Amino acid sequence: MSTPSDARTVLVTGAAGFIGSHTAVELVTAGYDVVGVDNFANSSPGAVERIRRLADGPGSFEFVELDLRDRAALTGLLRRRPVDAAIHFAARKAVGESVDAPLEYYDTNVNATLGLVATMLDRGVSRLVFSSSCSIYGDARTVPLREDAPAGPTNPYARTKWMCEQILADICHRHPSWHVTSLRYFNPAGAHPSGLLGEDPRGIPNNVLPYIAQVAVGRRAELSIFGDDYPTPDGTGIRDYIHVVDIAEGHRLALERLDEAPGHRVINLGTGRGTSVRELLTAFSAACGRRLPSQVVARRPGDVAELVADPSLAAALLGWKSTRDVADMCRDAWNFQRLNPDGYDDTDSGGTGK
Ligand SMILES: NC(=O)c1ccc[n+]([C@@H]2O[C@H](COP(=O)([O-])OP(=O)(O)OC[C@H]3O[C@@H](n4cnc5c(N)ncnc54)[C@H](O)[C@@H]3O)[C@@H](O)[C@H]2O)c1
Repeated sequence: MSTPSDARTVLVTGAAGFIGSHTAVELVTAGYDVVGVDNFANSSPGAVERIRRLADGPGSFEFVELDLRDRAALTGLLRRRPVDAAIHFAARKAVGESVDAPLEYYDTNVNATLGLVATMLDRGVSRLVFSSSCSIYGDARTVPLREDAPAGPTNPYARTKWMCEQILADICHRHPSWHVTSLRYFNPAGAHPSGLLGEDPRGIPNNVLPYIAQVAVGRRAELSIFGDDYPTPDGTGIRDYIHVVDIAEGHRLALERLDEAPGHRVINLGTGRGTSVRELLTAFSAACGRRLPSQVVARRPGDVAELVADPSLAAALLGWKSTRDVADMCRDAWNFQRLNPDGYDDTDSGGTGK
């Protein structure tokens, strides 16, 4: 395992969240010392306990409950526990909610990023991997999408990600010693193969796979398919689903390759393969062993027909390629949901399906 010797201690913001928790496990297992922070706005302490159980070295894991907008608390933490790099996941991520509560989205996503960058500058930390999103591309004219496709964010959430990318580019321009990679994820899905970590959103899931998983476990009656009159082979929307463990590996590689290029670079994390909502439902039904109910309802405003990545830049710059497919995502998501029917219980049932 080759880790840069001078980037061994890593701050992971949003460490209790879906992608942050899987990435924390990946990093500790690869020998990094991870300092995770989260305010549990969309996660629970149960996830932290699961990380501790899965990530038993050779690196270490420390967790601090902290609101990233609290600059004094973050500065205090980094004074006590200096870090060499940061991976910044903490954000709010529901598109519909961002339309209803734009101020909260700009505050958490943009303001917290500004605070993090200011604190990093103050503490002399100049390496950062940032969670960006394919939503920046908006209504894509051509697929697959390359990183140089024009940005056209269509909602406040996507605009916060676009603004953060521009802020980071400006910081890198001003500070040539900075190394930043923004990873634009397509549709993260699946769970850790152990069944201990997975996606446990608070409230009604915004993403289709955790919604289907909750139908499978009986928490929701049926899947609502938002439109079957798109110009796609079966009429339902096509997305590029990517296994969360592949995403976690992508973050480790991005971290390890940060020093290769100064400045800000933008890289897609996707598989290059599109899957329709109906195909996803069929794959999940196969994984859980029964045909899951669905009904077609009206299109959702803002949804587009097809979003699929061109992942070739990630292969060229990071040596990264997804290795898990939609069947793996459905199997692992079902395993997590089956073992944790109510998600992470804050008293931590230990993945035994208490
Ligand atoms: N999951 C997706 O579909 C997807 C797609 C593209 C990009 N992203 C981005 O990836 C990142 C991680 O997404 P995720 O799916 O793991 O989401 P998540 O909600 O599971 O994780 C985000 C974590 O950040 C924490 N958080 C929010 N506000 C905070 C604050 N002020 N201080 C400290 N912690 C705070 C939440 O409690 C949560 O644990 C986000 O930045 C998201 O925008 C996600």
